[in-house]
Amino acid sequence: MSQITPAAVIARKRDGHVLHAHEIRDFVNGFTAGTIPDYQMAALAMAILCRGMETDEIACLTETMLRSGMVLPWPKDGPAQVDKHSTGGIGDKSSLILAPLLACCGLQVPMISGRGLGATGGTLDKLEAIPGFRTDLSTKEFQRVVRDVGCVISGASAELAPADKKLYALRDVTGTVPSIALITASIMSKKLAENPRALVLDVKWGSGAFMKPIEEARKLAHSLVNTGKRLGVMTSALLTDMNQPNGRMIGNAVEVNESVDMLKGGGPTDLIEITLALCTELLLLTKTATTADEAKKILQGHLASGKAYEKYEQMIRAQGGDPTAKLPVAPASDVLATKSGYLTACNNEQLGLAVIELGGGRKALGDKLDHSTGLESLVRLGQKIERGQPLARMFAPKDQVARVGPMIEGAWTIGDEAPAALPLIVERIG
Ligand code: URA
Repeated sequence: MSQITPAAVIARKRDGHVLHAHEIRDFVNGFTAGTIPDYQMAALAMAILCRGMETDEIACLTETMLRSGMVLPWPKDGPAQVDKHSTGGIGDKSSLILAPLLACCGLQVPMISGRGLGATGGTLDKLEAIPGFRTDLSTKEFQRVVRDVGCVISGASAELAPADKKLYALRDVTGTVPSIALITASIMSKKLAENPRALVLDVKWGSGAFMKPIEEARKLAHSLVNTGKRLGVMTSALLTDMNQPNGRMIGNAVEVNESVDMLKGGGPTDLIEITLALCTELLLLTKTATTADEAKKILQGHLASGKAYEKYEQMIRAQGGDPTAKLPVAPASDVLATKSGYLTACNNEQLGLAVIELGGGRKALGDKLDHSTGLESLVRLGQKIERGQPLARMFAPKDQVARVGPMIEGAWTIGDEAPAALPLIVERIG
């Protein structure tokens, strides 16, 4: 660091000043290189959490974190690379469908994905329910699958955005995760390291979302879109509802099975709506389609013809998996309603936590997952329920049913009046 010391930068942010680009760059580069210690980075993260950052500061922080590692090179004259990022939710499996579906449209999807965070499941964990499937591709393997198949879903290698890995670990233990500026830089530095031409963000709000209040989720969506655009990537976001599960299935093997249903032309309507809307954004941003109606027709055509499923099979095989393997699912038992009325609320996070209790997610870093467990939601908000009616089907070893069943049943509130329906897609930001 040249003239200004790390302590002075921390103090300037603490006092609410806008940091200069060189201050942000020197600080983050020093932290990544190990010349600025964790305690000073933690202090700056706390100052950012308390004081926030302006759009220019967030873009500079993101770019510095992005440039701390490799940015994937793609041929200039080849197909456009696109991707989607979701802030995560319960039963959110759209990545498994979106990647092959967009590859059928002539786009390339180099998707770097993550593991479960809090109550939400992770795409990598779900895909690892498939025997042999590898989520630890090297950068070379990752690029080869994109070139040969058109889509890939794998974990981030150490070469991509190492500053984020180091900073996220620090934020996790210093209470500095819930900062819109830091979340934006963290998400966008990883996504932009894929070097996409267009990016769509699925920002979820509600009881099963990372950002529960709609206003906070909206702020995050604007911050992500502004940052993407500042850094030269066509970016849009959909603000979507996470007050009940996406689709019916929550878990690992069961979510893969539900994704395959949709890839073969079936699947639940909410999952279809959200996945097609996200794909439509990318077809419009890249001018692969000129209207939303045209985009939907193209996408539905690939689902109905079986092409999307074929592409999924190619991707699974290219990553070492057997797409035809029957995935083991634990024995099913029904969870019954204890009263009659209307479903007025769903503690969606609790459903995610119930799956973690069944071993479908991690309680501690490094926990081994039981991919066969999970649950199927049999009801939707606003629905009329009779006492004794099944609310959910639980996939669990018999000895877990009495322990976890009440947690699932207790996630739903049953009242006397039907609640107002919530829109699945609240608004588009872009
Ligand atoms: N997901 C990320 O990748 N980073 C954050 O900071 C929060 C969620």
